[in-house]
Amino acid sequence: MQTKDKNSRIYCLTTLNIIASSKSSYRFAVCVMMNDIIYMDYNATTPVAPEVVRKITDSLQNVWANPSSSYPEGIAAKTALQSARKDIALLLNCEADNIVFTSGGTEANNMVIFSTVSKYKSRIQENLYPDGDLKKSNPHVITTDIEHDSVILPLKKLKEDGFVELTEVSAKNGGMVSARDVVAAIQPNTCLITVMLANNETGIIQPVEEIAKYLKKINAERANICLPQILLHTDAAQGIGKISVNFETLNVDYLTVVGHKFYGPRIGALVAKDKKSLQPLLYGGGQEEGIRPGTENVAMAVGLGEAARLAHKLLPELTSKMQQVRDHLEQRLEETFGNMVEFNCRPKVTSLRLPNTCSVSVCRQGMTGPAILAECPRLRASTGSACHALGQLSGVLIASGVPRQKACCTLRLSIGRETTQHDVETVVEQLRQAVKRLETNVVK
Ligand SMILES: Cc1ncc(COP(=O)(O)O)c(C=O)c1O
Repeated sequence: MQTKDKNSRIYCLTTLNIIASSKSSYRFAVCVMMNDIIYMDYNATTPVAPEVVRKITDSLQNVWANPSSSYPEGIAAKTALQSARKDIALLLNCEADNIVFTSGGTEANNMVIFSTVSKYKSRIQENLYPDGDLKKSNPHVITTDIEHDSVILPLKKLKEDGFVELTEVSAKNGGMVSARDVVAAIQPNTCLITVMLANNETGIIQPVEEIAKYLKKINAERANICLPQILLHTDAAQGIGKISVNFETLNVDYLTVVGHKFYGPRIGALVAKDKKSLQPLLYGGGQEEGIRPGTENVAMAVGLGEAARLAHKLLPELTSKMQQVRDHLEQRLEETFGNMVEFNCRPKVTSLRLPNTCSVSVCRQGMTGPAILAECPRLRASTGSACHALGQLSGVLIASGVPRQKACCTLRLSIGRETTQHDVETVVEQLRQAVKRLETNVVK
């Protein structure tokens, strides 16, 4: 359904309606209700690409049989799953066979954590290692203090219940952990290192590949002295579709994939170097080789495959385009607000930050991120990750070394494939007017 506003511009009435552009099948606009809304919250979620919607619809209508059924329709569903796996594998440079479909990133992250801890405990109980002290201590996990809640909360729960020892390496140096600090935290009973690939709030890319290089040597030494191997996991939710994510080059054991962060549906996957190292969170019908039982969500898996195919095809072009628009946004913010704005976690080397993310603080007394956004009713952005939408102070910013006062007045502006320079101008103008109104109110 369409309508026209006073300026005769056509908008869609549906929320987050996706319009395939006539120019290119990859272009689409995001319009919300009848107003000229600008969406700059692509790190929270992305709309589903029209090509993905088409594939999902086709699958729901035509490939609905159970992939475990042996008749032709079941085989077609199984083939569709395999084909999706291949598209994801192509994007991430892994084998199709390395991929386990999950409900999303939360499940993939939980699966890695619970599985690794449990398998480690079993191996220790089996007396596979001569070091008797290992039996007395809990498994030790190393992570960072800027991880997503789907990593940090299961770990904290395990620690609280007395099942693991936990080290959270600090990212206070500009939002990036040091690979040396991570490996320096290793203990004889360490079984897992989990470090996100890129942070959802600051966009800072973490040195996962460097950690893997250190770990390769350390694991070789540990093998010689009969200590358990340490597995490496990265939650790549925010990296995929924005930067090149290469499973082989990263050399991790596990990698988390989240469809709705790169124009796919709400489904996820876990890439595992050795699937046998995984233990299921659920028990049931034996699907996904028993690692993730439950009748497969074929249509969403097909959608994830299509999102991966698109990301693979478009990535080089998109990365540089998003970076140009993001850099323009930061430049315009600087020009408009002068030293009233300060950017958080902006490394000198641009490639150390996601090309689409801008974390900016508007430093004026009495001004807060939520207050600024409340004055910008046509801007969809965030004051931190979507989890902090209720106005709590972002733990990630504080952990990244951002002072509390700055963290309070921070906006996260994350752009998408279709964000234009024109959108940037509109948003900067909205912010300018909002800040002016708030300043007037403070003076009153
Ligand atoms: C870095 C990161 N990891 C994991 C997740 C969890 O994904 P989901 O909510 O789809 O399970 C998110 C989602 O916000 C995320 O940003």
